[in-house]
Amino acid sequence: MDKGDGVTDKAKQTSIHLKSLDETRFFGRTLGELALPGDVICLDGDLGAGKTTLTQAIAQGLQVPDSEYVTSPSFAVFHQYPGRIPLYHMDFYRLHDVSEILDLGLDEYFSLSGLTVIEWPTRASGILPDDRLELTIENPGDDSRIIRCACLPGWETRLADLFRQYPGLLLESTMGH
Ligand SMILES: Nc1ncnc2c1ncn2[C@@H]1O[C@H](COP(=O)(O)OP(=O)(O)OP(=O)(O)O)[C@@H](O)[C@H]1O
Ligand SMILES: [Mg+2]
Repeated sequence: MDKGDGVTDKAKQTSIHLKSLDETRFFGRTLGELALPGDVICLDGDLGAGKTTLTQAIAQGLQVPDSEYVTSPSFAVFHQYPGRIPLYHMDFYRLHDVSEILDLGLDEYFSLSGLTVIEWPTRASGILPDDRLELTIENPGDDSRIIRCACLPGWETRLADLFRQYPGLLLESTMGH
């Protein structure tokens, strides 16, 4: 569905099937290994879908030290962690308006040299960079997850390589078509 900011209609759509918590961790670590300075990953999905869990694995892939335990930033809205490149972890659950994000200056991190990961990104609709990776996590009620994935060209090649290497992750895809 187009969220009104023109990304989803231009993006390649892919669905990923993660059969276990371990596969979520594997996928997250791989995203962290693939991340480049200035990347933005949006994590959508209901309460308890697995957004923070995936972010913890992304942090591992970025080589954030284990002593820097990545927890939900809900109360602080924002946490920064050191890694191969910095991780800017944001959680907009408690925010209601884009102006709150702008007042906090959080949009300025999107173009810095770290990886931005955003939980509840729909709160930031309209100010997110176009070239982002959007992941929507669905919880079918067990330890598996479906991830709907929309990405612009900056991510497309990297993910296509990943899925070529691990085709078992793919449920369906318009990549490479
Ligand atoms: N395959 C899986 N992937 C992700 N999480 C899983 C999986 N299987 C089980 N879980 C569990 O589901 C829970 C997900 O909680 P998590 O805090 O990551 O959700 P969240 O989307 O960040 O929620 P919130 O909206 O409250 O921030 C964790 O307890 C995690 O262990
Ligand atoms: Mg969370």
